[in-house]
Amino acid sequence: MFDEMLKTRTALENNDLTVSIEGIDPECVPQHVAVIMDGNGRWAKERHKPRTYGHYAGAERLKEIVRTADGLGIKILSAYAFSTENWKRPITEVSFIMKLLDIYLTNEIENFNQNNVRVRFMGKREGLPAKVLEKMDNALEKTKSNHGIILNLAINYGGQTEILHAVKKVALDVKAGLLSIEEIDFTVFEAYLDTKDLPPPDLLIRTGGDFRVSNFMLWQIAYSEIWNTAAFWPDFSSELFIKALQDYQKRDRRVGGLNKKI
Ligand code: IPE
Ligand code: IPE
Ligand code: MG
Repeated sequence: MFDEMLKTRTALENNDLTVSIEGIDPECVPQHVAVIMDGNGRWAKERHKPRTYGHYAGAERLKEIVRTADGLGIKILSAYAFSTENWKRPITEVSFIMKLLDIYLTNEIENFNQNNVRVRFMGKREGLPAKVLEKMDNALEKTKSNHGIILNLAINYGGQTEILHAVKKVALDVKAGLLSIEEIDFTVFEAYLDTKDLPPPDLLIRTGGDFRVSNFMLWQIAYSEIWNTAAFWPDFSSELFIKALQDYQKRDRRVGGLNKKI
């Protein structure tokens, strides 16, 4: 099945990536965009294909969106690839996703390096197959000197687990005398999260039409602008991405303050 899929040069791969960026103010491009890439299974079902085919198409789509994001001047793209809850799925689907991650992280290294993409990860290492961990470490190492867009992949990630882990690490440091309780503020705490040194997402995109955050970046999205589309992830074109950015640029980000015009 995999070989068959890999051999298929999909329409996505052949897509012309020159997209119109008319209507985008280059001065107000979000620095950090986070995406909940949902709807792969339903996309496949609509085509009378197995859900796994949707995951394959979704991975192809991600390649395009990374290039588009980079071209638009976005500095960080966080992408939800596998949640701590996704283990509940049938073993065949989980194994396929793990294999897909393995292949993606192997085959994309050259591409990452050509396009100056730096990869980093969020999520729990425990529970992931050794092969995937190996490919993650390799991707980190091989792309560490790249200084273009950061592709922050969430694999075996859950926002609640991330926060709980951070709390435990803080407690251990307090216990060890490395940190005092008085010193714990937002900045200190954020350094214990998987997003250490990254600014929070300016924009959170969810495809697939559901209005929920599904345990994604719970701490970090406190003031992110949310953009939702019914389009399934494999259909999330660069044109739609640009539409999301255009809408984002019309938002009034008050962050608890007042509208500038008032
Ligand atoms: C998102 O697509 C990818 C993962 C969660 C791994 P889904 O697999 O959730 O697709 P739907 O939402 O069932 O259509
Ligand atoms: C969120 O999608 C997780 C990823 C995109 C990896 P899910 O399909 O797992 O979320 P729910 O079940 O709709 O909340
Ligand atoms: Mg889903």
